[in-house]
Amino acid sequence: MAAEAQPARGQWSSRLTFVLAATGSAVGLGNIWKFPYMAGEQGGALFVLIYLICVLCIGIPLLMAEVLMGRRGGHNLVASMRALGKEAGARGPWPVMGWTMASCGVLILSFYSVIGGWTIAYILEMFRLHSDGLGAVSAASAFSELTGHPGRSLLWHTVFMLLTTVVVARGVRRGLEKAVQILMPLLLALLVFMVVYAASLEGFAQGVKHMFVADFDKFADPEAGRGIALAAIGQAFFSLSLGMGAIMIYGSYLPGAVSIPGAVLAVGLLDTLVALLAGLVIFPIVFSYGLALDSGPSLVFISMPVAFGIMPYGLLVGVLFFTLLLVAAWSSSISLLEPAVNLLHEKKILSRSLSAWAAGLLTWLLGIATVLSFNKWAFGFTFLGKSKENGIFDMLDILTSQIMLPVHGLLLGLFVFWVMKRSHCMEELNLGSGALFQTIYGVGRYLAPFAIILIIINSFLA
Ligand code: PHE
Repeated sequence: MAAEAQPARGQWSSRLTFVLAATGSAVGLGNIWKFPYMAGEQGGALFVLIYLICVLCIGIPLLMAEVLMGRRGGHNLVASMRALGKEAGARGPWPVMGWTMASCGVLILSFYSVIGGWTIAYILEMFRLHSDGLGAVSAASAFSELTGHPGRSLLWHTVFMLLTTVVVARGVRRGLEKAVQILMPLLLALLVFMVVYAASLEGFAQGVKHMFVADFDKFADPEAGRGIALAAIGQAFFSLSLGMGAIMIYGSYLPGAVSIPGAVLAVGLLDTLVALLAGLVIFPIVFSYGLALDSGPSLVFISMPVAFGIMPYGLLVGVLFFTLLLVAAWSSSISLLEPAVNLLHEKKILSRSLSAWAAGLLTWLLGIATVLSFNKWAFGFTFLGKSKENGIFDMLDILTSQIMLPVHGLLLGLFVFWVMKRSHCMEELNLGSGALFQTIYGVGRYLAPFAIILIIINSFLA
């Protein structure tokens, strides 16, 4: 094969590396920043319950489908879709999905990077807040000072995008993979430590109740209940990195011998564990200090510093916490940019490094809209019964998490479980043809698409 026609495709060295990289993608701001504020805004336990059901019954089977497509396709998103379509004898514009998935990553990253930037700002902010002494009021004003100034937010958004683009430009495999190997377990350990701390607060019981004791009456109330299922399914997709090609690209580096279901299960469990732990830290703090549950994107940035201001060694723990949050965000952000860069590169539109800088620049530009959503361009609107205050940011979030990801997930599932040959699916999942395979196949073929369609119809048309 001519040199230019040969993509530099590597493979993960082991199943563990894949699990780490995919976990690095899945565990991020979605778990620690977004999950608690969504659960707060959507009323707590009922949202958590639907979220868990969505992860188990829709997320995990579709995650298997996405990895499977990546590995069998073995190329960039568009070429993989084309190859798989051909193999299955399917007509239809499947390759278009490669482009829409890669674009979805860029759209998500445009706002993800702004929040990622805040985590950098907060590492430094910890020192200042700590010397000033800290209560709920100063934590809230520190947050609005940061986000209220477009210049400051833009600066940190720029730094975060540079961090992301540099890694993607050089190729993802070395460096970040190593960092994630050490830092992810550290993040988990720190979260467990924080849960132990939260358990000593007077609001712990109330926090746990808020997360785990569901109020089913809410569901019956059409106004309050309407958006919960859509928000929960969107959050499940977002948190699992499902439906935008990140996992498909990572799957394309997976050696043929590795069992997909086991690896996917590990990623799904770790991702869910981190989200639940984050909730168990944040809600007790919120209840103990009388913070607002529905404060949206500011929740983590206000509640955590309040706790750090009071606990012994709070400065140290605070710096550590935001540093690890940054790393978690970073290992997710590279996976958001990678599909687009890989596509531009393998389509020979630009070189690898130019592709990264071009996609990075575009994302940075789009991110300015999110920076301004918290100050100059802020406006409010109501979406399915919940009021949103941060205009374009909220719209982008809803468009990607609650619409594009579930729709892509639906299409991925239809492709794998209806279009692809069952025998190919069986070969990739490598579970034989026994009950386990039958169950996964059945859930992917009937339950998952049915549930996604039902949730979408129920949210918008009911
Ligand atoms: N899963 C990541 C998080 O929870 C975000 C993400 C979404 C990453 C989609 C890649 C693809 O922070």
